[in-house]
Amino acid sequence: MSPSSSFSSSPVHLLEDYSSPNWVTPKAHIRFDLDVENTIVRSEYTVRWNGVQNVTTLPSLFLNGEGMEFLSLRVDGAICDPEEFELTPTGLLLREPPSKEFLLVVENKISPKRNTALEGLYLSGSMLCTQNEPEGFRKITYSIDRPDNMIAFTVSLVGEKELFPVLLSNGNPVATRDLGTKQEAVWEDPFPKPSYLFAVVAGDLKEVSDTYTTLSGRTIQLKIFVESGNQEKTEFAMYSLKEAMRWDEETFGLEYDLDLYMIVAVDDFNMGAMENKGLNLFNSKLVLADKKSATDETFESILGVVAHEYFHNWTGNRVTLRNWFNLTLKEGLTVFRDQWFTEDKTDPSVKRIKDVLFLIDHQFPEDAGPMSHPILPKSYVEMNNFYTVTVYEKGSEVIRMLSVLLGRDGFKKGLKYYLSTYDGQGVTFEEFVSSMEKANGKELPLFRNWYHRKGTPLIQVREEWKPETGEFRLHFSDSEDSELGLMFPIPVALFDAEGKTLQDETLTMQGKSLSHTWKGFVSKPTASVFRNFSAPVKVSFERNEKEAAFLARTETDGFSRFFAFQEVIREKFGISLGSSKKIDKQVIFDIFSHTLQKKDSFPKDYLSYYLSFPGLTNLAESLQTFDYEEIYAQRVLWLREIADHFLPEFQELYEANRNHNPNQNREEIGKRKLKNIALYYLFHSSLDSNRLGNLALSQQKNAKHMSEELAVLRLFSEMGHPLQEESYLTYFEKWKNDSLVLDYWFSVQVSFRDNALLKAKELLEHSKFNWSNPNKVRSLIGAFARNPLSFHKADGSGYQFLSESIIRLNAINPQMAAALAKLFQSAWLQSGKRPTFASEQLKKISEIPNLSRELGEVVSTIRKGWGEKV
Ligand code: TRP
Ligand code: ZN
Repeated sequence: MSPSSSFSSSPVHLLEDYSSPNWVTPKAHIRFDLDVENTIVRSEYTVRWNGVQNVTTLPSLFLNGEGMEFLSLRVDGAICDPEEFELTPTGLLLREPPSKEFLLVVENKISPKRNTALEGLYLSGSMLCTQNEPEGFRKITYSIDRPDNMIAFTVSLVGEKELFPVLLSNGNPVATRDLGTKQEAVWEDPFPKPSYLFAVVAGDLKEVSDTYTTLSGRTIQLKIFVESGNQEKTEFAMYSLKEAMRWDEETFGLEYDLDLYMIVAVDDFNMGAMENKGLNLFNSKLVLADKKSATDETFESILGVVAHEYFHNWTGNRVTLRNWFNLTLKEGLTVFRDQWFTEDKTDPSVKRIKDVLFLIDHQFPEDAGPMSHPILPKSYVEMNNFYTVTVYEKGSEVIRMLSVLLGRDGFKKGLKYYLSTYDGQGVTFEEFVSSMEKANGKELPLFRNWYHRKGTPLIQVREEWKPETGEFRLHFSDSEDSELGLMFPIPVALFDAEGKTLQDETLTMQGKSLSHTWKGFVSKPTASVFRNFSAPVKVSFERNEKEAAFLARTETDGFSRFFAFQEVIREKFGISLGSSKKIDKQVIFDIFSHTLQKKDSFPKDYLSYYLSFPGLTNLAESLQTFDYEEIYAQRVLWLREIADHFLPEFQELYEANRNHNPNQNREEIGKRKLKNIALYYLFHSSLDSNRLGNLALSQQKNAKHMSEELAVLRLFSEMGHPLQEESYLTYFEKWKNDSLVLDYWFSVQVSFRDNALLKAKELLEHSKFNWSNPNKVRSLIGAFARNPLSFHKADGSGYQFLSESIIRLNAINPQMAAALAKLFQSAWLQSGKRPTFASEQLKKISEIPNLSRELGEVVSTIRKGWGEKV
């Protein structure tokens, strides 16, 4: 049995072809006889006609089902003869349904253990668990597996007590039965839901429980299930959950609707986490954390992802999707909600900086490359391939724009209207946008074009100053000649020479261009536009470098101040590329020293971002030049110059933040960040590298927090420092039994410099590496392919390494293989023979036998985008 259907025989799904289902299954009773090798599933459905009322003969009924063994079919109690139905590679066709409503019982067999694709019912360690979004349910049992089929589920789980003492499913536990060496647990979910939200877990799990009291006074049981020994590592996830519950009540008036909320940590998991109703499944790395073994970044991911999955309970589950094209309706919206939550819990500017950098580094390239698609894709072959940064992150930016156009209160009204109007239904983005309109009495016709237009819009900005009249004019125009004119907010601030705000207002673009004039100035004001990154666009604003530098010092919006500084750095850096002369960096030094002098007036975490030098990918993407060797070489020179110029300041910064408490509060996180950024600059300075190395090694050895420890490994790796191997070894000896901590270790060794290939090959053979564990694959192969210096090696060796890994993964886990194949996208912009080498590798992949639907679609989309005949 191949892991999934092959690419060549898979149909394309088109948005324009969508129609509602003819048949639905409003009720289901699913019974599992759980066994690692052979699980028997018996599904009993109430099937109901959902098509036009006046049909003369009822059309056939198709149930999705893939990769399973059929056992039997009964209709209204009578066993079906083979000629009454047809089995196909993708399902079961019942030729003549007996009536408009009937009972169907189907039995089948599956093998969780052989299911290495981690979709459907599978084995992770010794636990059985499921992943059904988007179309995994059809790998568990025959079903009408589409989000517009809403099902009220009852689930019986039968399993060996010894292997599976804990048996979980969605909703409420309603009965348990002792069956000798086996036991049965029955669960009932009172909320009808699509099959993608169905979940089952069985295993020898330990639970950590807590309670939460809602604002209306109901008590909710909270339970986190982990493997024995990990109970101590759930505290932060539990805290995050309670914070998220409170926030959703306070911000949107949304309370949790069941009496029980469960989270299960799973070691082998294709993505971050899954919002199954009442029973979230999480990648272990997003649940398990303590200060010794998790970095500050991991803690923040946990906060955000726990909240994200919790927020889906309303945006996704209670109001769900009509079809998969509308994925962004739940994902863009829920990402926006989790970003807003984290902004409130941490710092709005810092969070915004991180989110925008992520968007620019990952979504902008996707939207500029062969896989570019609108947030509402028009077609797909394999839905798994559309869980993209575009659907998620750009989708979130689109929702965020509504919150600026309507104000946050207007947005809250709109969301309440949407959730109360469409509760219990599957809808599209249209219902969402029109809810926003209705609740606010405002029309947003052009806003809808964001759902249809692909690519990052480039907005040209011009300014005009008339000293005679004191008039200042800004002109904005969409540089693309698209029929899809857009609506978006443009917050503008005008500052005088002292940094005083003269104007602060939000303009609204509607269509192709916009001009606005202000009057009555005595001297030319400095304009800050698209404040707080108000739209997912690129902005071209040609102006005096001094003005950007001025904003980098005086903008009152923290994000825009940061971004203005980045603009100054990028501009200058761009000039220094390919030029043999050393360029004058005085403006940059001035901003640095201005900020360092005032350093106590900034939150520490904010300062650490402000002082960071843009990374390779960010520089390449924003300058649109992809000669990484050159960017790298220049960047090192720049860092050395800055570091030497501010040597005493960085030394002082390091010393001042050396002592910290290993706690997860803002002050301490900020100290760790500042100390690490100071050390980063010091390492790039001309200070004696032996002395620095020893300093860093002692930081590693005495670390009280993983962020301190890992920063040292990163530095040694990035610098190619002589102490690198000693550092890796020390770390390995300390952590060899903690799989999650070793993921950092795998990734750090291949993330920097141009010689990572050897390391990567060596690590593939390491006994702790495991092809079946997605976290390991991401940490090693994914991290390697995100290291531009090694991946884009001129001889094509990086591409070859990736394609060989992908081919191997195609047979194990097609979703992982496809996700890695997307990393080839960036090769087409590279110079020399690189694009040719990359396309040879893609061609090789496209020719393998048993090419999966997931991988096949990605490879053929990229190749088509590169103008190849496929
Ligand atoms: N819906 C999940 C989320 O964003 C993501 C998801 C989609 C997923 N497919 C998955 C998670 C497969 C794990 C495995 O919250
Ligand atoms: Zn989500």
